[in-house]
Amino acid sequence: MRVNVDLDERAYDIVLGELNGLGAEVLALGVRRCVLVTNDVVSELHLETARASLVRAGLRVDTLVIPDGERLKNRDTWWSIVEGLLAVQVDRKTPVVSLGGGVTGDLVGFAAASVLRGLPFVQVPTTLLAMVDASVGGKTGFNTAGGKNLVGAFHQPRFVFAPLDTLSTLSDAEFRCGLGEVVKHAVIADPELLEWLVDERAAVLGRDRAALTHIVRRCCEIKAAVVVEDERESGVRAVLNCGHTIGHALERVLGYGALRHGEAVGIGLVGEAAIAVGRGEAEASLPSSIGAALSALGLPIAVAGVEAAAVAAATAMDKKRERGIVRVAYPVKIGEVRIAEVERAELRAAAATVTHPEEP
Ligand SMILES: NC(=O)c1ccc[n+]([C@@H]2O[C@H](COP(=O)([O-])OP(=O)(O)OC[C@H]3O[C@@H](n4cnc5c(N)ncnc54)[C@H](O)[C@@H]3O)[C@@H](O)[C@H]2O)c1
Repeated sequence: MRVNVDLDERAYDIVLGELNGLGAEVLALGVRRCVLVTNDVVSELHLETARASLVRAGLRVDTLVIPDGERLKNRDTWWSIVEGLLAVQVDRKTPVVSLGGGVTGDLVGFAAASVLRGLPFVQVPTTLLAMVDASVGGKTGFNTAGGKNLVGAFHQPRFVFAPLDTLSTLSDAEFRCGLGEVVKHAVIADPELLEWLVDERAAVLGRDRAALTHIVRRCCEIKAAVVVEDERESGVRAVLNCGHTIGHALERVLGYGALRHGEAVGIGLVGEAAIAVGRGEAEASLPSSIGAALSALGLPIAVAGVEAAAVAAATAMDKKRERGIVRVAYPVKIGEVRIAEVERAELRAAAATVTHPEEP
């Protein structure tokens, strides 16, 4: 199954398949070699299958393994990939294949963008979050002491190959985290998907193959449509930040790691729906409809031990702010997002609907 990202001369396919089908897809680029980059967690689980598939297709494969973790999504790890690519004497046609979650994909993509001013790049996402979000759209980069993803480049992959079989080894916590972004996609663009997630929650949480295929395909179609309209985020691509203004602020106030990113985004969606309700732009039931879907999937809809005022203050530090004004992409109904400036007091009132100052 394929979803096309129609970016003219940079157009590419997202292919849903099994990891042992990777080799044939890379071979179809018309190359004889590639460099496969993964991390030291995924290497234990899936490197051999990926490598064997590439070798079976007749490709020469060099392999690089980087350390795992968001904490190491930094200049040193990026540079180690750059040096590794140069050490195996890549030329400008050598594809660099990233096998892993969003952290690996962002780092490897930026290394591919940097070496020899740009090598062909292939994304093989192995987390749900990376399949439905991070691997599509060409954003690459790493974190600095100043914040997340502050250094990077747009570098579209030649194709994305989503091996659904690799999701069987993902922890429940990481899987749920991906579901937070799935709910986001549904809230942005697809009321039917939101209903389907609730109705089919048993199949979804059981990682039924047909359910996973439906989710990944639909989310990729939604993200692809947004990326095609606004590749470099000069406007409408900002709808993908829905839930992220309050979500990021919660992560910042609670300390990174206290809430997982997908959980924070889910709570952010509910909180930001309250902005629309407060403005009279949404029905009063919008936050609870989003909350019901999150709850059905085992995701939290509120968090304790945090003051709404602190969350509102933390939104001002969001990278997406322009000239100090907080612009928020908030849902006004399921399937429709508005991007508008939001006052601190409104953000505080919205944050209060999803936070409790006392610990439970
Ligand atoms: N480029 C973009 O457009 C974009 C969009 C969204 C998020 N991101 C980035 O993505 C990152 C988050 O991605 P993530 O949630 O995939 O995190 P991650 O890459 O850290 O993966 C989560 C954990 O799961 C492990 N893992 C990966 N695949 C596995 C598998 N199949 N089985 C078992 N374990 C596996 C990883 O090694 C890691 O320990 C963030 O850095 C974020 O900034 C980028």
